[in-house]
Amino acid sequence: MLHLVPTQLDARADLPPGGRAGLEAARLAAIEQYRILDTAPEPAFDRITALAADLFNAPIAILGFIGAEHVFFKSHHGLDATQACRGEDPAAPVMMPWLRAEFTNGFHAGIPLHDPDGYELGMLCVIDRRSRQVDEQQVRQLRALGGIATDLLAMRLAARRALAQAEITASEVDHRAMNSLQFVASLLQLQSRASESPEVVQQLRAAADRVLSVARVHRSFSTQETAGRVPIAAHLRRLCEELSSSVGGEIRLEGADEVDVPKAQVLPIGLIVNELATNARKHAGSPVTITFHRRAEGAYELCVLDEGPGLPAGFDAAAPSGLGLGMKVVNALVAQLQGTLTTHANPIGRGSCFKVTFPVG
Ligand SMILES: Nc1ncnc2c1ncn2[C@@H]1O[C@H](COP(=O)(O)OP(=O)(O)OP(=O)(O)O)[C@@H](O)[C@H]1O
Ligand SMILES: [Mg+2]
Repeated sequence: MLHLVPTQLDARADLPPGGRAGLEAARLAAIEQYRILDTAPEPAFDRITALAADLFNAPIAILGFIGAEHVFFKSHHGLDATQACRGEDPAAPVMMPWLRAEFTNGFHAGIPLHDPDGYELGMLCVIDRRSRQVDEQQVRQLRALGGIATDLLAMRLAARRALAQAEITASEVDHRAMNSLQFVASLLQLQSRASESPEVVQQLRAAADRVLSVARVHRSFSTQETAGRVPIAAHLRRLCEELSSSVGGEIRLEGADEVDVPKAQVLPIGLIVNELATNARKHAGSPVTITFHRRAEGAYELCVLDEGPGLPAGFDAAAPSGLGLGMKVVNALVAQLQGTLTTHANPIGRGSCFKVTFPVG
């Protein structure tokens, strides 16, 4: 590890409460938000050091960022070292210019890199074993290169913040959608109570249940989603718990790969599970098992298994014209996933298995 020795005290006059240690704590918090310390090399930063070295016709250029105990070299042109000691006193102010002890008799030109609040994040410096004169234009150009590095950091931070804000907004929208859907379901339930026809009551309740199942999926979006993807195992686990209490009887998730599925696929998956699990409870009257796996060929496989008497003779899941609304809905959702639906015997020896296979999104 190299030893970079500070030569000049930071001239900051407005020391915060806590003095220099407080200033250093605030500076560290500032650099942390850029998530640059101890990250992998990147061509965008390597281009800056290569250009800086070229500009001074010097063998070494370093773009360093100052952590709590070390200076991390994000780019180290002409040098193998990837970091340097900060010095004896970690509470000492961050100082510029740096002097490289190994090159005391050589040449060192450095400019500090500041964030918009004035915190010193690091430095861009050029080093040579031979001493030399530097003209004003070179210093100006070195500053401009340092500015490119800090601009890059600022743009990345702004993009990350914008993304985080967009995620919050999307999650609020989903939350509102969920509330509205729950409201619609309550209206349908209320309306079902007003009817005297058992068939109308049943239809309205079924409609309310389907609306509620869409609401459940939106709740998962608003609580579990990040960057447009939802951890499917957690989502299905919760869905199974809620379905168990709404349709009555055990609906368990048995084995689900921990994969993040795009939001666009989560809605159909949730609704398919809702229809097939409801069918299994209604027509098979047995415990229901759900599985979700990622297969090697880049496909997801969702299974809904029951332990009932099996499917009626001539049942064709993929030709729903003769079936009820439930299987029509399932087929439409499977098509939306660009998947296929097949039925099998449950491998435990009784009951049926509905298998949906669809490409990884
Ligand atoms: N797990 C199952 N075990 C046995 N029979 C099933 C199972 N799933 C579906 N079926 C049969 O397939 C038929 C069609 O199912 P579908 O979901 O389309 O209609 P439904 O459940 O009768 O009414 P709804 O339109 O309310 O869903 C059912 O009526 C039932 O006979
Ligand atoms: Mg059904």
